Order: sequence, then structure tokens, then C-alpha cells
Amino acid sequence: MAEILRNGNVYHLRNEKVSYVLMEMPGGTLAHLYFGARLEGLNAANLLRRANVPADGSFSVQECALDRLPQEYPSFGLGDMRDGALEVEGPDGSWAVDLRMEKAEILEEKPALEGLPATRGEGSAALRVTLRDGHTGLAVILDYAVYDDCPTVTRSVRLLNGGGAPLKVTRALSLCLDLPDDGWELITLPGAWGRERVVCRRPLVAGHQGVSSRRGASSAQASPFMALVRPETAQEAGEAIGATLVYSGSFLADAEVSQFGATRLMMGIGDDDFSWQLLPGEAFQAPEAALVYSDGGIGGMSRGFHALLENHLLPRRWMHRARPVLLNSWEAAYFDFDEEKLLDIAKAAADAGVELFVMDDGWFGHRDDDTTSLGDWTVDRRKLPHGLEGLGERVRALGIQFGLWMEPEMVSPDSDLYRAHPDWCLHIPGREGIRARHQLVLDMGRREVQDFVVDAVSQTLKASGAAYLKWDMNRNFTNIGSAALPADRQRETGHRYMLGLYAVLKRLTKAFPEVLIEGCASGGARFDAGMLYYVPQFWCSDDTDALCRVRIQCGTTMLFPPSTMGCHVSAVPNHQTGRVTPMETRFAVALGGSFGYELDPRRLDDAERAAMRGQVEFANQTQQLRLYGQLYWLQSPFAENDAAWMSVSPDKREAIFTLVRAMARINAVPPLVRLAGLDAKRRYRVIETGEVFGGDELMRVGLCCPLANGDAASVVYTLKAEA
Ligand code: GLA
Repeated sequence: MAEILRNGNVYHLRNEKVSYVLMEMPGGTLAHLYFGARLEGLNAANLLRRANVPADGSFSVQECALDRLPQEYPSFGLGDMRDGALEVEGPDGSWAVDLRMEKAEILEEKPALEGLPATRGEGSAALRVTLRDGHTGLAVILDYAVYDDCPTVTRSVRLLNGGGAPLKVTRALSLCLDLPDDGWELITLPGAWGRERVVCRRPLVAGHQGVSSRRGASSAQASPFMALVRPETAQEAGEAIGATLVYSGSFLADAEVSQFGATRLMMGIGDDDFSWQLLPGEAFQAPEAALVYSDGGIGGMSRGFHALLENHLLPRRWMHRARPVLLNSWEAAYFDFDEEKLLDIAKAAADAGVELFVMDDGWFGHRDDDTTSLGDWTVDRRKLPHGLEGLGERVRALGIQFGLWMEPEMVSPDSDLYRAHPDWCLHIPGREGIRARHQLVLDMGRREVQDFVVDAVSQTLKASGAAYLKWDMNRNFTNIGSAALPADRQRETGHRYMLGLYAVLKRLTKAFPEVLIEGCASGGARFDAGMLYYVPQFWCSDDTDALCRVRIQCGTTMLFPPSTMGCHVSAVPNHQTGRVTPMETRFAVALGGSFGYELDPRRLDDAERAAMRGQVEFANQTQQLRLYGQLYWLQSPFAENDAAWMSVSPDKREAIFTLVRAMARINAVPPLVRLAGLDAKRRYRVIETGEVFGGDELMRVGLCCPLANGDAASVVYTLKAEA
């Protein structure tokens, strides 16, 4: 049970797994005392001795005392020489802030965040602490929640100008976690287009280290995620603390090791391209951050995040719900299609058991390639003479659902939209607009742009009767500037964009609750908890090569649950890498997430088409287990030639296991893989071989997995408990 205990000036948030302790110091500074495994109690004096606080507990911010004090929401300039979480310019031009505690309240329920996505608080206990800077009148409201069912604490920050003069916020991070020591290693998930979320682990060193994005989106290059793990922490053993941001825009994440060997982890909106004017009486809400603690290794941390996102963040309607097996037309046809061709592909897909056909890019304006027409969301009758209505109906007549692609946040310079509203895109007056993929970014912070997008998407969904929408976003921000904002508010453009995007997604998901939206951004370039609040799944990567995907899926599931990853079987030679891998391996890998196809089924031979029918059936039968089971990475594709993972049902009666060997090995014995997460006392039948093993044997001795010859060989085994 989540609970908040108060003992004098100490507040202790905890559940069965974790504790989080903070304390009001004499004078009102808010100190951080602990985040980690659940504690029964804590003697603050013990820890505070390291901060030079005398045994009688007296404390003064004089003589730079803050430099050693672990704090909840520090600022720079009044004694703490580390980076702070907050900088606010007052009327006198200074930017130091001195926050002292005003009050703490235990709340009935976790409040929602105004204008921003956030975890829902069912089964949580919530604490609100209000701090104030006496000099400017600025109030800082810190909200905390702890949940019954996850090893998690979430935090958010709201600023309120309670003074009489305008303030300018130049930094307002969401999270600061001061840890007493530096005996940690840092894990981040950097990447690139087609190579998203590479697991990168390195020792902490004195000073700053971290990740950030200034691209306007969370990005493929940097995920808003950081984990601190002990040097000895392994996949299923040892301490791990993970942090992520429920936000989709530019961000920063920093771990600073101080001169005293303390570690400060901070995360929030990136401050390079940010500032916010706060007039008297106005409020600013910073995004929510989530912390997970595990003493069961990196895997325990990942499963903690999965539980939080599955149970508290993903759209309610899609929580634990089956996802249709889909076939997407992109790699099957690219821009080269007409109605008959699409229907032919859809028919072949339907015959193989596919449940949803998705028409990708190229159906609107006069878009025969990527140089034109974004923003002109009218159907191209040359290709689709019966319009979206006609195509949607004819696809549904095949007994399957219809879905389509849009890139609503963009505009092509060659479009009626751009010709009518050249100022609707992000731009700096007088400077040439830098194009990427021949397109510009709409200024989503503007209400008229939001209305346009809601209208265009609504009309498209209505006309087509689509059950699914692929919401793409294919370029980074440049020329960051908004025609709707005065000069001194230009740095608000990026965050206003995100608020506008979230407002649009909120309106659309309310109006079309049954439409499954899959996020996409040149593959997985905006795969973050902010988007997942509105869209329950995200296209993982434009690289559909099975061996590459094993890595991408391994990195992605360090943070995100399998159900959120769009994973498709594609054709060979693979369109990105040219590699030829067996179909069963492409299938085995795509089973790692929300399953589908990215190929032309008409080009498969009879045996492959027959295999496809069996695959769809198997994917559906194992769906609950694969998407919502407990995920264990047994062997990492970043470290080993043989990658292996498994999902176990919550009652431990069922499991599905996958092994993928990258390069064939000559004269080798079959791999022996130790399983995890099973019930040691139960006996399990491997359905594919009929053999029965004890759970203890499978976990301690391992499962011997003979593999076919050749590169990219794989096996998938399903396990069922006997009786
Ligand atoms: C992006 C997506 C692809 C596809 C194309 C269409 O690159 O990631 O899956 O939809 O756009 O232009």
C-alpha cells in the first residue's frame, strides 16, 4: 500500500518496494534524504552529518552550507555551487532564487497536470510541498506520488508568480535527485535514425555527464532516460535507479558528481532553447518525471517502468488490450500505388489472416514523392478515384479494418496550405527556412494551427472510417521562432509547440476514442512517455532488419513495455541493410512487440504465405503473454552473438522464450540459456518439443536450444506449467 508518513518535519513516501524521504531543515530549506528500497524509518542526523549539519540539527544557509546539503529542488547562486533546477530572472535582473518551505499537504488524490500528460494516480498517495522565494514572491509547488503497484515515485513542479512584478523563468527542471555517493555507473539510450536506443553504460566521473536533445523532439539521438546502477549491478541483480520524463520535446538529463562525491541527477525541459514569461498571478507547469528503484537489477528497473506505464500512463482504453495484427503498405508500395494495387495487397493480407490494412504515405495532394503536399489533406483522386470513403469501404468488405498515415505537424512549401499561410510554420522572419525532407514544421503553439490540424485529421478519419492512424513526424526543428509571439517570448516557442501538440492529441483522442493511434517519427524518434499518454504504441524504427531490431527492441524495452513497440515482419533483402534473414527469424523478432507486417504479401511464395497464416494465429494466441507479461532479457544483443529474452505471465504458468543467433558458428554446441522469472517449484512443458523440465532446472541449468545452420537462426518456445 502506498502511504505518506509524517514525523515532525520529515516526510516519508513509501510502498512495499520503495521509500522516498524528504525533510524541512531549520530555516525552511527542503532537503532530500533518501530514495531506495523500502525503509521502516530513518534517522536523519546520520545522513545530515555528511552535510556538515551539527548533531543538534541546527542549520543555516550561511557559509555556502547548501553546497553539501542534498536538496529536493535546488537553485544556483546562493551557496550551492552545483547546477540548480531553477533559474528565474526577477525585475532587478538577478536570477538566484532562495526557496523556503511554506507548507506541506498530504492530498486525497494525485492531481492531474494542467496541459501536460502525466501518470494517473489510481492507487497512489500524494504529497504537495509549497516553497517560496521571499524576494520575488515566486511559489514553487512540488507534487509527489507513490503508487501501490510500482517501485516508483513521480514528481512534478509548478511555478506560480505570487509577486507583483513579471518574472522570466530560464530554467525549470522537473527532477532533482541528490544521492549521497558516486559509486554508480550511468546508463543512457543514445542513437540515430535507424539505430534508436543503443544501451550505453559508463562509469560516473567527477563533473557533468548526461544526454540532451535540442531537436524539438525527444529524438532518436537521445532518449529522455537515465539510469544509475552500481558497478556490480547485472541484468537481474543489484541496485538500479531509473528516471524518465513524461515529455516529448527538447530536454536535458544530467548527472553531476560533486567535489564531495555526491551525485545529483537532474532532468527536465532543456534550458538552452527555453524561457517563459510569468506575469503576476500566472503559473507555469513543468512536465512530470518518474523515478524507479530496483534492487533486482536492470531488468527489475525496466519491469518497474513497464508497470508504471502500462497501469498508469497508456490511454485507458488500450490498457492490457489486444492490438490488431496489421499490414502497412510503406515497404510494400512506397509512393507507387493506386486503389486497385492497395486492394490487391489488402486482399492478400486478409487471406493470410491480417486484421488491419494500413495505407501509408502518398494518398493526398499530388504526393508521388516526399517533396510535396504535406498540409493538403485532400485525397489524390488520380490514385484513389473513389476517395477515402471508397477505399475504406472496399477494405472493410474484405473483412478487415482500414487505417492510414498522416504527418499532421508538417507542411510542404509546395502546398496550398503553405501558399495560404506562410507564417504558420516555425520560422525566423528574414531568415531562410531550413528544410529537412523538403518540409517545414507547423507552429503547433498557435491556436489556429491546432484547429486546422484537428479539423484535417477529423475529416480524414471520418471520411475513411479508419480504425487506426499512423501519426508521423519526420524532421527536427530549425528556425525556431513563432510569428505569434513577441521578441521577448521567442524562447517559449518549443514548449508552446508541445502544449499545442498535446492539446490537439487530447481533442482528437476524445473525439475518436476507438481509433488506435500509432506514433512515429522517422521510426522511433519521438518514442517517449509524453506521446505514450495519447498513443499506446510507437513505430520502433525505420530499420526493419531482424538482427538490427533485436538491439533496438532490447534498448527500447529498457524503459518501454513491449506493447508500445510497433514491430513488423518485412521483406528480404531488407530494404535498409540489404541483409537476407530467414522468415521465421523476422517473425520471432517481430513477436517482441505489437505485431504486424511491412511487406507485399503477393510477393511471398506459397510456403511463406502459408507460414504467414500460422504466424498471425500464433501472434494472436500469445499476444497477452508477449505484450503484457513480465519481460526478461536473458542475453543481450549488445554483448553477445546469441540474444535471448522471454515473457512470463503474472501467475508464472506460461512463458514465451526467443533466442536469435546473429552469426552462424561452426563446430559449436547448441546454446544453453538460463531462463528467468519462472516458478522454481513448478514443472513446465515446452510445447514445441513436448519435453518437461522443472522451473528450477530451467533457471539454474538452462534450456539447450539447437539451432538451424546459417546466420540469423532463431527458436521460439512456449512454456506451460503442468497441472
Ligand atoms: C517515415 C516513417 C515511415 C514511413 C515514411 C513515409 O519515415 O518512419 O514508416 O511512414 O515516413 O513517408
